Amino acid sequence: MARILITSALPYINGIKHLGNLVGSQLPADLYARYMRARGHEVMFICATDEHGTPAELAAAKAKKPVAEYCAEMHEVQADLAAGFRLSFDHFGRSSSPENHKLTQHMAGRLKAAGLISEVDEKQVYSIADGRFLPDRYIEGTCPNCGYERARGDQCENCTKQLDPTDLINPRSAISGSNDLEVRETKHLFLRQKAMRDQLRDWIKSKKDWPILTTSIALKWLDDGDGLQDRGITRDLDWGIPVKDGQADWPGMEGKVFYVWFDAPIEYIAATAEWAHANGLGDEAWERWWRTDKGAEDVRYIEFMGKDNVPFHTLSFPATLMGSGEPWKLVDYIKSFNYLNYDGGQFSTSQGRGVFMDQALSILPPDFWRWWLLSHAPESSDSEFTWENFQASVNKDLADVLGNLVSRVTKFCRSKFGEAVPEGGTLGPREEKLVADLTERLRAYEGFMEAMEVRKSSAELRALWVLGNEYLQEAAPWSTFKTDPELAAAQVRLALNLIRLYAVVSQPFIPDAAQAMMAALNCTDWSWPEDVGAALSMLPAGHAFTTPEVLFAKITDEAREDWQTRFAGIRT
Ligand code: 2FM
Ligand code: ZN
Repeated sequence: MARILITSALPYINGIKHLGNLVGSQLPADLYARYMRARGHEVMFICATDEHGTPAELAAAKAKKPVAEYCAEMHEVQADLAAGFRLSFDHFGRSSSPENHKLTQHMAGRLKAAGLISEVDEKQVYSIADGRFLPDRYIEGTCPNCGYERARGDQCENCTKQLDPTDLINPRSAISGSNDLEVRETKHLFLRQKAMRDQLRDWIKSKKDWPILTTSIALKWLDDGDGLQDRGITRDLDWGIPVKDGQADWPGMEGKVFYVWFDAPIEYIAATAEWAHANGLGDEAWERWWRTDKGAEDVRYIEFMGKDNVPFHTLSFPATLMGSGEPWKLVDYIKSFNYLNYDGGQFSTSQGRGVFMDQALSILPPDFWRWWLLSHAPESSDSEFTWENFQASVNKDLADVLGNLVSRVTKFCRSKFGEAVPEGGTLGPREEKLVADLTERLRAYEGFMEAMEVRKSSAELRALWVLGNEYLQEAAPWSTFKTDPELAAAQVRLALNLIRLYAVVSQPFIPDAAQAMMAALNCTDWSWPEDVGAALSMLPAGHAFTTPEVLFAKITDEAREDWQTRFAGIRT
């Protein structure tokens, strides 16, 4: 039994996430966590809301709520949606937790003691009307390059030129529209990442099994152009973790907070501490996952994220952990994803384009979404959601293949033998072949699941279901019954056991359907089918079951057309 630590990139607090966000981190992380638990490993699966930063402040202002209240409410909303999608976090924390305040300040203090923090005086735009410094992207004005009137202080969206806020003509605050701006001096802390470049490079190069997508992004940031830059880790904002060093105030840093990307990954650790405290456990309970001097040396740590998050997880966060000089567990494997597109364009939170988690659950059960999203995960390239493809895939895979098998077998048994596993008869070469074929496919499935090859895993699982259907088609117990009822009984007994096997191995993808199948079979033994032959004789003759309701109702053309229209526009 291994110990496996799994984290999913933390969703930003400001608003409900769309299906593209879900499939890029939380959902595949859940698939892996469920699989590893099913195989008997000890798993710690952590996620949290990422609550700091200007977007959170602005979203709260828009909702006319104090930011702490807004975050508390949105955390509950996101936690409910995560539960609705059956995301099986051991803990869903909050980056604004006391644990994260303490740990973030502690890390900053360690980095300072190690000489890895520098203090830099900067000039920054201050909005008198808003009473605050403005981050670059919250300053708007006319682009000096192309004349576009709504260019942002960091970049012109129209001509893509990288800008400094002071380049803009007629600059104004994007928050209030005020042009009463001035440049003020302010001091910030920088993490001296440049000084850690060789250490980071050696570490990344030692990760021989990392996917190319991950390593190439990391090495590009390390070595391209000017190479790795020192990074500002503080901001002039109200909402966030106050800049202190874990022991005392930080002179000159009064009223400032840590930058959201500094404290967010530290929350992976702090959320595990939140988990321990929420369960009445002491610090040793979370430290054995995170401190290699306290038991974490044999933990395997896997991170799941979209590709845009890779630089932070291969460079900044490891720089924080290594730079602290303390024995923190570093990531062993990063599983990163490309983007999911929506019907010929991009999913977009800011534009409200696509299907969002709450909307998805309001029209269909989570298994439908889980199955489609995972079986179309954007792994080697971007992938696309279309309603036609969604309808066709779930109708075929879930209703026609898996659902149909469950329904045919249980109904046939009920009508000919009653609602109990039938006795009598012996199995023949056809069944031996089925066991051999299932075994081969199942071992392949296990291999892909171990390797986090999400699409390939789903294809093997589908192939396992298809084998059962083909067997049933050929064995045709409904015909056999007329000439050899004993053999038909043996075939149905095998098929009922096959439903149990399917429930167990499909559970990571479609947990609700798996539960329904096990409940119908009146079975609570979720043990993994190490030996397929033995697993197929587990439910003994005489074992009572109930014929389940339809597992997966097909998506009709009318429903699909209706949703297509409803979700074509922009969410407001
Ligand atoms: O890109 C995002 O959605 C970020 N909120 C991810 C943070 S991951 C971690 F480092 F906290
Ligand atoms: Zn421009």
